[in-house]
Parts: sequence; C-alpha cells; structure tokens
Amino acid sequence: MVLLAPSDAATSGGAFGARRTLPRMTGSAHAWGDEPTPFDALGGEDRIVAIVERFYDIIDAEAPVIRAMLPANDSVSRRKLAMYLVEWTGGPARYTPDRGHPRMRMRHLPFTIGADEVATWLACFGRALDDNEVTGEVRTFLDEKVTALATHLQNA
Ligand code: HEM
Repeated sequence: MVLLAPSDAATSGGAFGARRTLPRMTGSAHAWGDEPTPFDALGGEDRIVAIVERFYDIIDAEAPVIRAMLPANDSVSRRKLAMYLVEWTGGPARYTPDRGHPRMRMRHLPFTIGADEVATWLACFGRALDDNEVTGEVRTFLDEKVTALATHLQNA
C-alpha cells in the first residue's frame, strides 16, 4: 500500500462506490493508501465549504450559547473549520500549514463546553449534513468520528 502525501490525496481517484469500508482515521488523517478518501466521497472542497457554511448559519440562528463564544464576524471561524475538515477527511493540507498541529482539545479549552454544548454542536452539524444530502458510508463515518471528537472536547 502506498501512503499518499496529503497534497496528493485529493487526486487519488477511484470510485468511492467500489470500496466496502472506510479506513480507520487513527493517528493520521492521511492513511488512505490508494483508496478513495472521505474527502473524495464528499465531493471535495466545495461541498465541505457548503456544509460548514450551513452549519454556521444554523449556529448563528439557533445556538445562542455557542454563537456567544464566536467572534461577531465568524467568517474566520467558518474558514478554519472548513479547512480543518478538508485536511482531516484526507483532502489537501489546508489547515496545518496555516494553523499548525490541530491540538483540538487545547484550542477548545478557552470555551466552556459541557454536555449541552456537545449535543447542540452535533445536532447542528448533523442538520448541515442532512441539508447537504450527505448519506451512506461517508455519513456513517463522519457521524462516528465527529461524535467521538466532540465528546473528547467536552471540558465542563
Ligand atoms: C463540542 C462542541 C464544540 C464547541 C462548543 C466548539 C466551539 C468552538 C469555538 C468557540 C471555536 C473558536 C472559533 C474561532 O476561533 O473563531 C472553535 C474553533 C474550532 N473548532 Fe470547535 N467546537 C466544538 C466542536 C468541534 C468539533 C467536533 C470540531 C471538528 C470536527 C471542531 C473544530 C474546530 C476548529 C478546526 C476550530 C478552529 C481552531 C483554530 O483556531 O485553528 N470543533 N470551536
């Protein structure tokens, strides 16, 4: 199995439908070998940006506790999450060259994240996936991985 550099992952090609299982995202987000990545399955960067835009629109409108943690202009927050997800799903390295190692738990420590905030964040993200018609194997994968990460970020 050939491990692709992050920058190559987006062009690894192949029909996602041909694969049976997604690799486990343990340790590295880029251990996809020559398999299509979740990034490929999602349809690439534009689709991830659309998901994040929808997610933050829902947060802005309906999640006041999380909204209050964000800057008044949340365009940078939107961009950071989108670039993180592009890289994390096996697409090009858009996050770490700009922001460094993700260190997600450390970066979330300034915010009070209890069980309610985890549940709200996940509900909003799930709706953004619904609204962008993310289904099937890649949906199951994202639901599992994002839930695990959000739960890990609970700090209150
Ligand atoms: C568990 C509930 C969560 C809450 C309440 C929360 C809240 C926040 C807040 C307030 C920020 C700061 C925004 C900014 O700097 O503009 C942030 C940043 C960020 N969050 Fe979350 N978040 C949660 C879960 C997650 C999850 C599950 C992910 C990934 C799937 C994620 C990815 C990020 C990223 C990539 C950043 C930007 C970090 C940076 O400054 O480079 N967050 N989050």
